[in-house]
Amino acid sequence: MCYGGPSEPKLKLETKVTTLGQRQDAITTAGGTPALLKPRMITLGSIKDILALYDAKATLADAYTIPAPWYVDSRIAELETRAVFGKTWQMVGRIEQVEKPGQFVTASVAGEPVMAVRGNDGVLRGFYNVCRHHAAAVVTEPCGQASILHCPYHGWNYGLDGALKGMPEFEGVQNFDRQKNGLVPLKADVWEKFVFVNLDPKAAPLREFLGGLVNRVAPLVVSKLHYFDSHTYDIHCNWKVFVDNFLDGGYHVPHLHKGLSSVLDYKQYTIENEDRYCLQSSPMVASTEDEATGATRKGDRAWYFWQYPNLMINCYEGYMDTNLVLPVDEDHCRVIFDFYFGEVSDGARKYNEQSVAVGNRVQDEDLGICEAVQRGLKSRAYGAGRLSVRREAGEHLFHRLLAEDMNAEFARVAAAD
Ligand code: FES
Ligand SMILES: [Fe+2]
Repeated sequence: MCYGGPSEPKLKLETKVTTLGQRQDAITTAGGTPALLKPRMITLGSIKDILALYDAKATLADAYTIPAPWYVDSRIAELETRAVFGKTWQMVGRIEQVEKPGQFVTASVAGEPVMAVRGNDGVLRGFYNVCRHHAAAVVTEPCGQASILHCPYHGWNYGLDGALKGMPEFEGVQNFDRQKNGLVPLKADVWEKFVFVNLDPKAAPLREFLGGLVNRVAPLVVSKLHYFDSHTYDIHCNWKVFVDNFLDGGYHVPHLHKGLSSVLDYKQYTIENEDRYCLQSSPMVASTEDEATGATRKGDRAWYFWQYPNLMINCYEGYMDTNLVLPVDEDHCRVIFDFYFGEVSDGARKYNEQSVAVGNRVQDEDLGICEAVQRGLKSRAYGAGRLSVRREAGEHLFHRLLAEDMNAEFARVAAAD
């Protein structure tokens, strides 16, 4: 399983200020007034205008969602590539894939080919998966094990520590320093079952980035669970639509997921925001209403973690799935589900498959609604939405964290212009 989406174009910031026109009207008059139903805009104004449409200082009771252009404008998607995916820790694999010397995983992060590889000295290192000769991908498998990293194009060899070891037929080349032509490093680290990399050389350490999540997840002892299977979904919606759907505090569960709803004590559902994570949690109730769900979603509580920007970790007793949400373009995302169980012996296979099928059914229910939302976000009838104080604090946190990163990156690029 490769944790990469298709590559994305480099950002060209358009800083010219124009008025946002009818879209602005639609947002500021949100509430069903006729002003909403103006003809749809052809251009959406500058990035600066679009960023300014979101008021990150509003309290939850006063807040709007991030406005529709944030979900449909390709320039916002490009800014996100730099501001969000190019600066945050991104999951690229599972720890058991890089346990032994020479084991590696490859992925695409913010459009960059990357790898994490375990050295002979036991150290896990991250590199750009880009040959220093003519830029081919050195490692072409999603994961595996190698004693040397061998570029398939012209046969250059790199050690597991990234050092350039050999270049066939390169005698006579002047002013070439082999020491300075190793693979370009990047930050890599592990937490619980997961491998992360970060493209930002100035990024804070992984544990600092995860903040309170580390202690919140620890009691669940997910390290005891074993990987079982993965499913990939390609969805016709912006990646943030999928994240929003996850973070609505169970708001949609009774309406959209009847099976799942039958095992949750919906009224007792809690939402906790801290640092860059949100924990949505619910006591569980025994139910025979939906047999497969009742049989495979067990324990005292359901735990649904989200770590900014794009990682979800869902736990029940003896069960975990992770959801990694990867932007493809402003209109599409890819979501990778990894399923883990307490028992993965042959005897447990049937039960685990039944459990995965329950997850897939919930996922299918979510897909249709996410794609409908993406269509609605493009409608002349929609500008931005309000948030339920009881349910949607997680979305509010997501939108504020995103706005902070987007505005900071925009200011950096504008200052450098
Ligand atoms: S591009 Fe890797 S050896 Fe030429
Ligand atoms: Fe859902």
